[in-house]
Amino acid sequence: MLEIRKVTRRFGSNTAVRNVELKIDQGQMVGIIGRSGAGKSTLLRMINRLIDPSEGSILFHGKEVSALKGPELRRWQRDCAMIFQQFNLVPRLDVLTNVLLGRLNHRSTVLNLMNMFTREERIRAIAALERLDIAQTALQRAGTLSGGQQQRVAIARALMQEPKVILADEPIASLDPLNAKVVMDSLADINAREGITVITNLHTLDTARAYCNRIVGMAKGAVVFDGPPEALTSDAVRNIYGGEEGAELSEAITSTSINIPAPQPARKSTGQAQPALAAV
Ligand SMILES: Nc1ncnc2c1ncn2[C@@H]1O[C@H](COP(=O)(O)OP(=O)(O)OP(=O)(O)O)[C@@H](O)[C@H]1O
Ligand SMILES: [Mg+2]
Repeated sequence: MLEIRKVTRRFGSNTAVRNVELKIDQGQMVGIIGRSGAGKSTLLRMINRLIDPSEGSILFHGKEVSALKGPELRRWQRDCAMIFQQFNLVPRLDVLTNVLLGRLNHRSTVLNLMNMFTREERIRAIAALERLDIAQTALQRAGTLSGGQQQRVAIARALMQEPKVILADEPIASLDPLNAKVVMDSLADINAREGITVITNLHTLDTARAYCNRIVGMAKGAVVFDGPPEALTSDAVRNIYGGEEGAELSEAITSTSINIPAPQPARKSTGQAQPALAAV
């Protein structure tokens, strides 16, 4: 279990995250929503220890990750993979090498210095690419891929870390609707099949509703909603996104363009399975 205890983060006089308390069981798929500046990225970055809390502590299975140093900190950052809006691949390296970079924290410094990957690691990397349906790009330079393909490479790289938690910061904000759906389906599949906890910041309500079994709403650094999608009433939405009492808050304002079709009855002629999200 991941436990966030009274965590506050200040930047100068600005409080980005305010007294946040959350307990996240292993295997949950959590969507964090809120306006721009609400503190969503700051919260994820503290979990991964890219930045430190000003106050409070973060624990994983009872161990305080906010106090880890050296090899123990690296081990935590390996257990807790991060996916970014801008993919953060090395564009001039090929896709396979980018995925193999996910292994670095698993290896000795000497092996890393020699820049050698074992046959087993390569096979594993290809398998990760196959799982995300992009194995055919393995030898292409990462910078030549489309955004959707690059994000899938980033997910394959995260899988190579064999993480217990995946933190995704607006993973679909730069993608077109079709690629956004592919990426969210992949994260949902990894969550369901491997039991990896997924915590993802999402700009929009409809995606969070469709994919996450728990939604955390943030406003001005504080958690103002925490519950299942069904509990997200229009009042709760107004608390998160602001707005006048009684005013219509159109879901379109807070929607991406992932248009998720209502589940269709299976058609015998195609023999195709429903997409994973139909099960959510
Ligand atoms: N490194 C930093 N230095 C100073 N202020 C920062 C820093 N990082 C974040 N902030 C401030 O903290 C607040 C929360 O920012 P954060 O990036 O966490 O919001 P967010 O919810 O992720 O927003 P967005 O939806 O735009 O990504 C903002 O006021 C931001 O300006
Ligand atoms: Mg952000």
